[in-house]
Amino acid sequence: MKDITEKWIREDSEKSLTEIGIRKGQKVLDWGCGSGNYTIPIARIIGEEGLVYALDKDKKTLDELMERAKLIDLRNIQRTDTAGEPEIGLDNESVDVVLLYDVLHYYYFPRAEDRKRLLSEVYRVLKPNALLSLYPTHLQSYMEPKLEDVETEIKEANFYLETQYSGMVMLHSGNLENSQVMNFRKGNIRRE
Ligand SMILES: C[S@@+](CC[C@H](N)C(=O)[O-])C[C@H]1O[C@@H](n2cnc3c(N)ncnc32)[C@H](O)[C@@H]1O
Repeated sequence: MKDITEKWIREDSEKSLTEIGIRKGQKVLDWGCGSGNYTIPIARIIGEEGLVYALDKDKKTLDELMERAKLIDLRNIQRTDTAGEPEIGLDNESVDVVLLYDVLHYYYFPRAEDRKRLLSEVYRVLKPNALLSLYPTHLQSYMEPKLEDVETEIKEANFYLETQYSGMVMLHSGNLENSQVMNFRKGNIRRE
């Protein structure tokens, strides 16, 4: 499992994350970052002019992430501990990309009300026309919320679906999977 994670960080992550829209110099909020399997490759791509806010309610996973970052001398990760509240302690329109990867599902967000509060905060902190990237795991048709529910809620929060990737190489539970990723833009009008 460790080898697969290392392979992801070394070989696959940059291609997938660049395709998804991560760019040098961006400010990225990795909401529910865990031990940083996305945070770390993103920190590499965005470089020293960029910043990743690594937000999680689990102090142990954030400790692990910061230890991993220290070992490879990454200094553009801002540890962001929370108590699990949906409110985000960042300024309005201050972030280029928010990742909601493997978090918006029954295990962490069974209540529509909580998903809506989080989405409204994501909308607030994103710059105009900025990117919300969703890795929609565990959203099966036999369980609430379903993917279609979450998609509707994101659109109701004033985002539009810009790109739907299938077969994106992603790391999930220690395995590489060809996965769906959905990119939404802030705003309710598709700009040409
Ligand atoms: C399944 S892990 C996904 C980690 C990472 N995004 C990834 O895809 O590898 C979900 C993470 O979201 C965090 N999380 C869940 N609900 C949260 C909340 N309300 N506030 C902050 N973090 C939360 C958990 O602590 C956990 O680290």
